[in-house]
Amino acid sequence: MHEIISIKNVSVSRGGNPVLKNINWTTYAGENWFLMGQNGSGKTTLIEILVGYLWPQEGSVSILGEEFGHISLRELRAKVGYVSSWIMKRMQPYVLVEDVVASGIDGSVGFFEDKSGSIVNNVKEKLDFFKSSELFGRKFGTLSSGQQLKCILARAMINNPKLLILDEPFSLLDVGTRIDMYEHITELCAENQAPQIIVVTHHKEDIIPVFTHGILIKDGQTAAYGKKEDILNQDIFSKVFGISGQNYKKYFL
Ligand SMILES: Nc1ncnc2c1ncn2[C@@H]1O[C@H](COP(=O)(O)OP(=O)(O)OP(=O)(O)O)[C@@H](O)[C@H]1O
Ligand SMILES: [Mg+2]
Repeated sequence: MHEIISIKNVSVSRGGNPVLKNINWTTYAGENWFLMGQNGSGKTTLIEILVGYLWPQEGSVSILGEEFGHISLRELRAKVGYVSSWIMKRMQPYVLVEDVVASGIDGSVGFFEDKSGSIVNNVKEKLDFFKSSELFGRKFGTLSSGQQLKCILARAMINNPKLLILDEPFSLLDVGTRIDMYEHITELCAENQAPQIIVVTHHKEDIIPVFTHGILIKDGQTAAYGKKEDILNQDIFSKVFGISGQNYKKYFL
């Protein structure tokens, strides 16, 4: 099988504190993964390693068969689409939607000089996929949260990446917009050259049918790992999130 992510024995400290401890994670083409865990358990840290923003002190990382240290970050960022609140916050409010989307070409944040026809067509095609053509020409700061997310998703897809990483993408969305996004993600997965999708989420309902596997992190260590049906259960959730059996039944079922 074709490996997409390969993380071996990765450990990381931040500010002098250990955040990730001996993480192993391998994903294969055809799978889509969710990543869950308590606040501060190290999910975003793990994602930042995958997109090359952070270097692990120990262990090795390969993406799409390319080992970190042997691939340029520029090349890596062109192959991996990344959506996070951090990226959204870094977009200047006066930047035009088309510049935000095109800036995904080189992984910059909202500035792209080249306005050649093929690039404009690519931007329009990606906005159109997320039913957002009408946003072309608008300033990013004038968009609603849902519209900003679609714009950032179009940016993440601009190079037709093989891997799309979404760090809590749905947290600001109302229930209708959230379901609308589930539809887009499902459609994306049905495309011929669909990327593998990794989603970080705090909500079980975000684990829509396209997700096949999951990894749960607790205190920087892997607490559960594998096929969705094997890990989405009360025992594991209670352990990872510290939920009593009584409260699990009261609020989760
Ligand atoms: N730049 C940094 N410097 C020092 N410590 C950091 C830094 N970034 C994150 N941390 C710490 O690393 C730990 C893990 O943070 P991380 O953002 O990876 O958690 P998370 O699982 O994504 O949490 P959340 O669910 O709240 O997004 C936390 O204790 C956090 O305070
Ligand atoms: Mg996080």
